[in-house]
Amino acid sequence: MDRVIIFDTTLRDGEQAAGGSLNVQEKLEIARQLEKLGVDVIEAGFPVTSPGDFEAVRLIAQEIRTPSICVLTHANLKAVDDSWNAVREASNPRIHIVLSSSDIHMFYQLRKSREEITKMSVDTVAHARRYTDNIEFSAMDASRSAPEYICELVKAVIDAGATTVNIPDTVGYAMPAQFGRLIKNIIKNVPNIDKAVVSVHCHNDLGLAVANSLEAIKQGARQVECTVNGIGERAGNAALEEIVMAVRTRADFFKLETGIDTTQIYRTSRLVSDLTGFPVQPNKAVVGGNAFRHSSGLHIDGMIKKSVTYEIMDPRSVGIPSSSLVLGKTSGRHAFRERLSELGYDLNDEDFQKAFTSFKDLTDKKKDITDRDIESLVAEEQRTITERYHLDRIQVTCGDRGIPTAAVRLIGPNGQSMEDAALGTGPVDAVYKAINRLVKVPNELTEFSVKSITEGIDAIGEVLIRIESDGVSYTGRGADTDIIVSSAKAYINALNRLLADKNKTA
Ligand code: KIV
Ligand code: ZN
Repeated sequence: MDRVIIFDTTLRDGEQAAGGSLNVQEKLEIARQLEKLGVDVIEAGFPVTSPGDFEAVRLIAQEIRTPSICVLTHANLKAVDDSWNAVREASNPRIHIVLSSSDIHMFYQLRKSREEITKMSVDTVAHARRYTDNIEFSAMDASRSAPEYICELVKAVIDAGATTVNIPDTVGYAMPAQFGRLIKNIIKNVPNIDKAVVSVHCHNDLGLAVANSLEAIKQGARQVECTVNGIGERAGNAALEEIVMAVRTRADFFKLETGIDTTQIYRTSRLVSDLTGFPVQPNKAVVGGNAFRHSSGLHIDGMIKKSVTYEIMDPRSVGIPSSSLVLGKTSGRHAFRERLSELGYDLNDEDFQKAFTSFKDLTDKKKDITDRDIESLVAEEQRTITERYHLDRIQVTCGDRGIPTAAVRLIGPNGQSMEDAALGTGPVDAVYKAINRLVKVPNELTEFSVKSITEGIDAIGEVLIRIESDGVSYTGRGADTDIIVSSAKAYINALNRLLADKNKTA
């Protein structure tokens, strides 16, 4: 079967989403998981935009060997040179050059003519070819560009050496039939199109990113640019998991395949959500909490008789464990390890031991331990791996009569124990003020949300926060059966990320 190349841009366009910053270690962790998922290309960043992005791309290029590692660059020679330095150690590096092709962008933003745009595109592609023959060119805002100019530009960059030509719907304006016609037209009218792969990159402003991408591959595009959970600029990008599962579930219609190990989809989605702090909506296709839950009596009746009645995909095919088995007090190391591996976690001995200790602590507080509890406690362990400050103890008094008071003990960067207390307008405010007295980093809390991970009164409560410092936003997460403790953990998590970032740029 014909193969569609899956180009993942979670670490570049996905990270561009407002409030979605990731640190270098988190990017590496996501890149490792994308490799397991089997994506063909990882767009690892836009290195000339920040030293952090440069470093993340460099480390990903050094470590991740199977997918091609791609860097985005502006269409200027110096930017191409600098971007190449970030990606050069990859086993199959790709340089991705972007320049706008629509009259709207050329006139209002770039103040350049079509001839100038073509020349800049050709010159940078030819320059990039000195470094590698894996060159992608993107005609930004292609869906609002004159179709005859797109064909002319695409021909010129292929002649200059581009091996992938990307047709973005940058502002999510296209309609599926129209976008499909644009792709068909390019394939039909560009004489050297057989020398390049036609790619598409769709945004979701009208909720059509996946539909447009699928129509494009139906019309001959063979690379799709997408992100995990559909995160990205504004309303986001086309969701990787939806495209992959559409192609697989409707192989009869597309007659295409991808190289994705679909059983890694759920795990990848959770990881990206955890690290970016963007929750996945319950009704999200493929990976949402309700995606495989049936509620109506009629549907449940059908499901009991034969799952094909109301289920078009097997949840196990996307890595959602089928078992509703719960673990508890009497479950030992063996059962816990088995469950972890069924959930897709492959922990080394040290991390396993930590996770097992947390699991045992949890069984003292909660009777039935579900898969979601296990995922949450492993994520909690991973969050504490590189922390500078660690929450050791916390005690809070609150109520409708008393003055909310919090006493906090942290373990500091040199292993020293640090204690302080504060009053607040509520228990969380008191805790945050007490922590601020110990970790003196000015910041503003911009978002705070709490949700229960599992059902029942003894559920784990997960707190997600965002704080801002010097215009940069940092997320923090914490989970515990006590939501005040979760709140404290989330704040410490955000502060540790902020401090790691400041340290790196200092
Ligand atoms: O949306 C867009 O046009 C982009 C390009 C860099 C491909 O992200
Ligand atoms: Zn984009």
